Amino acid sequence: MSISRQLKDDMVHGSWIRKMFEEGLRLKAIHGADNVYDFTLGNPYVDPPPEFHAALERVVHEERHGIHAYMQNSGFPEVRARVAAELAAELDVPFEAARVVMTIGAAGALNILLKSVLDPEDEVVLVAPFFPEYAFYIRNHGGTPVVSKADATFLPNLEDLDRRIGPRTRAMILNSPCNPSGRIVTAEVLKGLGDLLRRKSAENGRTIYLFSDEPYRRLLFDGRTFPSPFHFYEHTILATSHSKDLSLAGERIGYLAIGPNCEDASDIFAATTFCNRTLGYVNAPAIMQRVLLYLGTYQTNVPVYQRKRDRLYEALTAMGYDIVKPEGTFFMFPRSPLPDDTKWLDVLAAEHVLVTPGAGFAFPGYFRISFAVDDAVIERALPGFERALKSVR
Ligand SMILES: Cc1ncc(COP(=O)(O)O)c(C=O)c1O
Repeated sequence: MSISRQLKDDMVHGSWIRKMFEEGLRLKAIHGADNVYDFTLGNPYVDPPPEFHAALERVVHEERHGIHAYMQNSGFPEVRARVAAELAAELDVPFEAARVVMTIGAAGALNILLKSVLDPEDEVVLVAPFFPEYAFYIRNHGGTPVVSKADATFLPNLEDLDRRIGPRTRAMILNSPCNPSGRIVTAEVLKGLGDLLRRKSAENGRTIYLFSDEPYRRLLFDGRTFPSPFHFYEHTILATSHSKDLSLAGERIGYLAIGPNCEDASDIFAATTFCNRTLGYVNAPAIMQRVLLYLGTYQTNVPVYQRKRDRLYEALTAMGYDIVKPEGTFFMFPRSPLPDDTKWLDVLAAEHVLVTPGAGFAFPGYFRISFAVDDAVIERALPGFERALKSVR
């Protein structure tokens, strides 16, 4: 085998979502697509809103020399100015275009940030359960992931974080609302986290950066608001995309925004811009950047997801499932009725219900349901969820 040992290991242990997706294809071939209920993929359910199509139409008819050419690696200046102004209005933080880099999705933003700040043996702290790609992104750039376990309600546990943050900690990735738990990190926890990171940075003699990964920031239920980490820790850098709020996951459009009081902000801007080029992303897609320029205010289709969450949450808890009610995203993360969540997956799969194990999110004993699916899939799967639970009780 010519691939590296590390990669071989990553490919075996890091592909639960893909594995379950393939299991779904296998079951669908046997039982028919309508008889298999696939809750594994985090692909948006709704199509982009009409405002997106209108903006795209305008871009397509734009006659501007050089529109499809190379540009500055950080993106079109007018697009970055627009992003900075909108973010400033939304989060009440004075962002500047000079600190915004357009990226290939949130994934591209996180990769160029990690590449920019990590030296060999540096550590990056994650709060489990977390989006599994984080660990790969960190290792892509020579860093080591250090995992802190969230509390029973999936909020960061500050005491545990205090123990995990050490002299080699260079950054922390925070994801609110969280894939897979749907939990929003509260202002109270953010305040404690800001104080902790400040204290640890002083002890270490170098700043710990907080990378706030927020692709679900506009997917909040029950009229909730989003407490922004920028208000609690000055060395925060936002990484996000329109993969989820505008359902543009396949178009790969995102950006990062460096906080106005972040240490070495101009160096980080220059380094991330450079890494956009040297990691081979070069720049975010030109057409999608210009779509953002012309996109007015738009509504994320929260009601569709909230209705699905309500139906599933109420039905499953009535059966006896133990679930922390998601406050955003399109995921829920119930406790596995069997201590071994991978065995529980087999019990559900026997009912043609496919989910992802908590082990895939560094949080065994739970399982993730993506409810970005048809209402009919939810309705048809419910009896299987009930029989599966009864069978192990
Ligand atoms: C928490 C989280 N961060 C980042 C990403 C990657 O987003 P993008 O597709 O914009 O790169 C995802 C995608 O599912 C995600 O769930």
